[in-house]
Amino acid sequence: MTTAVREPQQVSPLTNRLNAILNSRGIDPSTAATEPTAEPVTAALELAAARIPRRYRDALADHPQVADWVQHVSRAGRSGPGGAPGIDHGPSLLIAGPTGTGKTHQAYGAVRSLLAAGVRLRWEATNTADLYASQRPRPGHDPERQLQALGRCPLLVLDDLGAAKASQWTEELTYRLIDRRYTHELPTLITTNLPIGELRDAVGDRVASRLAEMTERIILTGADRRRHPAH
Ligand SMILES: Nc1ncnc2c1ncn2[C@@H]1O[C@H](COP(=O)(O)OP(=O)(O)O)[C@@H](O)[C@H]1O
Ligand SMILES: [Mg+2]
Repeated sequence: MTTAVREPQQVSPLTNRLNAILNSRGIDPSTAATEPTAEPVTAALELAAARIPRRYRDALADHPQVADWVQHVSRAGRSGPGGAPGIDHGPSLLIAGPTGTGKTHQAYGAVRSLLAAGVRLRWEATNTADLYASQRPRPGHDPERQLQALGRCPLLVLDDLGAAKASQWTEELTYRLIDRRYTHELPTLITTNLPIGELRDAVGDRVASRLAEMTERIILTGADRRRHPAH
């Protein structure tokens, strides 16, 4: 892609840092980012950084399969407003593993890497327990609208699937959300503490079947990083 010669632009330290990290992992940030979109991308990065929970603000998608997913989605990005690539559809990941192995870290790391690659990204993130809690009827809140927004957003991080106590009601909510994302092939990063074999009992067969088709599985292993941070 050719770029016009322009005055040097101010690039935020965050962009610089993310680009350096992508380069060190063999990902070329310029494959997606083009010169004319440098400013919106920087702004998007900064906005996104502000929405990422503090603990994961520097998270890197350093797992090779997650890095591959980032590259795949970046490449598939369609041209969005202003010429920056956006997400239309793409593969999803199911990141499984015991507590503290870095599942949420990889999920937010993936969001950050996509932004650093210049992908225009409207994304939402929710923990499933919080989702169920917020779906309970309460005055002045439209749970249906919230579910639709999560179902439709270009990228969704659905954290800790299967961690909350299951009921017919939670199963139905999860089904509607996953089915929407499955049907429209919307990239979704799902994490779960459960061994894959137990997922079906926890979320129901309809959800488990869709996840089997729509996600690539990544199993994180190792010690609980919260208790053994040096490992
Ligand atoms: N690849 C990593 N590099 C550095 N720190 C990490 C990494 N993965 C996880 N951590 C840290 O380990 C802790 C647990 O990670 P987290 O993603 O919350 O685990 P999980 O979601 O699997 O329970 C957090 O403090 C997180 O910042
Ligand atoms: Mg987590």
